[in-house]
Amino acid sequence: MHKKTKIYFIGRKQGIGLRKYRLSHLENRRKLEAEGLKNAYEKIKQVRLIQNADVIWVRVRPEFTTDKERNMIENRLKKIRNKILIINDISVFENYDCKDSAFNLWNENGVKCPNYLTFELQKVENNLDQTIDDILSFLKKYKKIFLRTNNETASNGISILTSKSSKNEIQSIFLSLAERCKIHQSERKSTRIMAVEFINPRDNNGFQDLYRAHILFDKIISFYAVTSKKDVFHNIDMTIEDIDRFIMMNEKFQNKLEFLKPKIIRATESLKCNIGAIEFFLINNEPIFIELNPMWGGHASKYGFGDQSMQNYLIDNRINLENRIPNIYNFMDRELYYKNLFEYIHDYISKTTKL
Ligand SMILES: Nc1ncnc2c1ncn2[C@@H]1O[C@H](COP(=O)(O)OP(=O)(O)O)[C@@H](O)[C@H]1O
Ligand SMILES: [Mg+2]
Repeated sequence: MHKKTKIYFIGRKQGIGLRKYRLSHLENRRKLEAEGLKNAYEKIKQVRLIQNADVIWVRVRPEFTTDKERNMIENRLKKIRNKILIINDISVFENYDCKDSAFNLWNENGVKCPNYLTFELQKVENNLDQTIDDILSFLKKYKKIFLRTNNETASNGISILTSKSSKNEIQSIFLSLAERCKIHQSERKSTRIMAVEFINPRDNNGFQDLYRAHILFDKIISFYAVTSKKDVFHNIDMTIEDIDRFIMMNEKFQNKLEFLKPKIIRATESLKCNIGAIEFFLINNEPIFIELNPMWGGHASKYGFGDQSMQNYLIDNRINLENRIPNIYNFMDRELYYKNLFEYIHDYISKTTKL
């Protein structure tokens, strides 16, 4: 029998400076997550001293994390990096925070992702004409693209370009993104502009399906698909109009999981992450990855799937639907979900370290 695993958390509000010994203030604490950790007490417990830990979990909400905060975390971790297992080490922060860095790593590791161009602000400023021409030929090739910052979330800093977009329009979007970049760069130096191929697996009725899997080490701990007719959407955008497709896609997803799993794990490992929510489209059952979110905790985790009308439908029809889409109801059973998550951290460490 393995002894209890000791876990230490480090983030922007915990584990650094005067907050080194703080047990509370778990960054991006999810609803019922703390209860889940408590319920897992037979296998895992939180510790106050970093040097006593068997495992350290770096918890940072990427879009809010400044270079300064990263450095503070780095300074603490560099002393123990080779001795203690670190979940989502701060040293791999840019691998997921910068979507162009993620795409680059995926390309190097044979993981499919959209085609893209990336622009270092300082380099393009003296070469604006050439840059806009590059974007124009990229657009010509892919017909529809995003122009966006590489590290923002919740649809901030995304513009869509199509064959109808004029050169002037593109230039003005580019310049406004450049201004956005400059503001962000004061605290987050790696902010860049990127052009991204728009992945369009739309069905005949105009639905885009986006898949998401939550990975912890070698395991997929949950998964779901969301669907919408919009170009840019998140879970919250789904309404009762999308419910039939939502149910069908989630029912099918379960059968695809087995053959997708090696690719999903590879995509996560390519970014050197141990935990994260990874998102992808499917074209002919081939995943095309678009991002890894290390600290998921958005609308689905907080409230449920879709807007209020969809959430109500899922609650009212639970008896009929639970067998068809157990993944959806399991994800919503939060206390058990987080208990399982923390227990698996213990199980994984026990099976991978020698007694
Ligand atoms: N390459 C792409 N092709 C098509 N749609 C995309 C692509 N990248 C992102 N999207 C859409 O934009 C949304 C937001 O993009 P994403 O990169 O996931 O950033 P975030 O979730 O952090 O806002 C996605 O949920 C999806 O609807
Ligand atoms: Mg996303």
